[in-house]
Amino acid sequence: MTGPETARPSAAVREDRLWQRHLDMARLGATPKGGVNRQALSPEDAAARRLLASWAEARGFAVATDAIGNLFIRYEGSDRAAAPVLTGSHMDSQPTGGRFDGIYGVLAGFEVLEAFADCGWRPRHPVELVAWTNEEGSRFQPGAMGSAVYAGALPLATALAVTDRAGVSVAEALAQTLSSAPAPSRPGLGGPVAAYIEAHIEQGPRLEAARRTIGAVTGIQGQRRYTVDIVGEEAHAGTTPRAARKDALSAAVAIVAALEQLMADRSDTVRFTVGRFEVHPGSPNTVPGRVHFTIDFRHPDAAVLAARGDRIAELAERHAKGCAVTVTEISRVPPTIFAPAVIDLVRRCAGRLGYPLMDMPSGAGHDAMHIARMAPSGMIFVPCLRGVSHNEAESATPADLAAGARVLADALADLARS
Ligand code: GLV
Ligand code: MN
Ligand code: MN
Repeated sequence: MTGPETARPSAAVREDRLWQRHLDMARLGATPKGGVNRQALSPEDAAARRLLASWAEARGFAVATDAIGNLFIRYEGSDRAAAPVLTGSHMDSQPTGGRFDGIYGVLAGFEVLEAFADCGWRPRHPVELVAWTNEEGSRFQPGAMGSAVYAGALPLATALAVTDRAGVSVAEALAQTLSSAPAPSRPGLGGPVAAYIEAHIEQGPRLEAARRTIGAVTGIQGQRRYTVDIVGEEAHAGTTPRAARKDALSAAVAIVAALEQLMADRSDTVRFTVGRFEVHPGSPNTVPGRVHFTIDFRHPDAAVLAARGDRIAELAERHAKGCAVTVTEISRVPPTIFAPAVIDLVRRCAGRLGYPLMDMPSGAGHDAMHIARMAPSGMIFVPCLRGVSHNEAESATPADLAAGARVLADALADLARS
């Protein structure tokens, strides 16, 4: 290292090491199609926690978990009492997930801690890497659970009581996970945070199309999530006249059609998804007695989220066809606007390293949406192939992943310096 330009911690980021760590993590929950199935608090998630903790211990970084299972890895600062600067993302995946969603932000953060250690860089603030519990929300709803509990947006007891489809609670799955991936427990939740930056693959096609390496993320669109439960009456498919039926599926189909109309949007900004749809008892010759489905509704404008989201329950009632309908809003996160100073820092760090960059909002949700309510926060996006994500084919290049980690290193160094 010869001068101030090369003395930045980004110079110690190693592309080969970061890539190898992705390959090592991708073995945990590997699917035949080349992706991963590493759902929250599963044995595969526990294996990822063990592996990350073993790397941390080998480097002498302290490891701890809090009451919702968020895993913290700490690089000590010269002022141990100073509020930590946080970075991180998640290690859980969708059932048909890719090798980069979430884990990249964890591994980029770990690479930065290693780079700090390799070049002997000692900030004033501690820097903590966090692997947030259950970001994806596919097994346990809502997603971004660990960061929501940490930030006080979701009560711990509510989160622990959530059950998966097999009736296993978060509390039970967490106890099992921590028994096979033990880590010292860390008292309390939340606490002062100096700043937060999360690195993530873009999960959309814009960086690739614009031939940019770095996205300086300006914010995250808001989201509302619901469950809908429809209770009708099981009846014989061959004998029950139409007028005598309380067909829960027929009602569900009418409700979803009405909601598709409610969410119609010429500008294609509204995001409306029914991702889970369960019909009971699921017998070909029984009129369905119960249907359960989920709604994921997103928009960057809080007014649109309020106006359309508030009509969901009323429309469901109107198309119930004699069934009982319960609409439950399970999470509501307003649009996030990241701190201008952090966005600008990301731009400056990327610019200094010579990476082509652009500002962009995030369509996907991230743990940063909760931490942004506690501390100045921002995100760094890197491209992924054709924007494909939540898909086993998800792909990103070692060079782009390393570029994002270099920007992260310099940005965290700046925030933690004094
Ligand atoms: C995160 O995976 C999201 O659903 O946006
Ligand atoms: Mn993610
Ligand atoms: Mn995801």
